[in-house]
Amino acid sequence: MSTGVVIVAAGSGKRMGGQRNKLWLPLAGEPILAHTVRLFATHPDIDEVVLVVSEADHAEVMALLSAEKLTVVVTLGGAERQDSVRNGLASLSANCDYVLVHDAARPFVTRKQISDMINQVQQDQATIMAVPVKDTIKVVGVTGLVESTPARESLWAVQTPQAFRMSLLREAHQAAEAAGKLGTDDAMLVEWMGHPVSIMQGSYENIKITTPDDLWFGEEILRKRKGE
Ligand code: CTP
Ligand code: MG
Repeated sequence: MSTGVVIVAAGSGKRMGGQRNKLWLPLAGEPILAHTVRLFATHPDIDEVVLVVSEADHAEVMALLSAEKLTVVVTLGGAERQDSVRNGLASLSANCDYVLVHDAARPFVTRKQISDMINQVQQDQATIMAVPVKDTIKVVGVTGLVESTPARESLWAVQTPQAFRMSLLREAHQAAEAAGKLGTDDAMLVEWMGHPVSIMQGSYENIKITTPDDLWFGEEILRKRKGE
């Protein structure tokens, strides 16, 4: 059995508000990107790593990978995250049975969570990491007024990795592209095909570094783990 991962890093980090892709910002003195890529590239259960980057970052990414001596296939992303994942899938070798899709902006997923997910996907064919929401969520209409309040017990905040049988995710991406449908995560495309998707409980530490306040929170997570 062979498992690949597509790590998407081809965004621009608008919400972080910096001059360049947020993934170059340091976490414990190293770019966020380096933390995430090293985690997967050195994981014993991962056979292939594809890293999807923007043209603007390409040269610097190649320099980072060679300095770190990491074996990673690099490919270019697209305008939307979905385009970047699709490009990444095209660069994985045909003998991958399973694929994980992961946001480079989530450096805090653990080795154990990755292993657990690889075990789970062999049973479920599609499984995603998520946590129960802590806040009450409201559906708000264009008027700015509350329309409804879904039952909190049924709401989960979705993270990555998301893991799939390779053929299933490839098919889902092709179908979405043909229909001109844009999903906000990969599971959505699989759901559109009517395929069940299971939930693996993740951790509240598996944050996506999105806005400046996530950086100090991230430093605290690393500091805490160092002391453990
Ligand atoms: N991503 C990508 N290709 C895109 C857009 C996003 O590969 N066209 C990647 C990002 O690099 C990130 C992950 O998808 O690792 C999750 O996206 P997000 O956190 O939204 O990052 P950005 O899109 O870069 O940030 P923003 O939305 O604030 O611009
Ligand atoms: Mg984005």
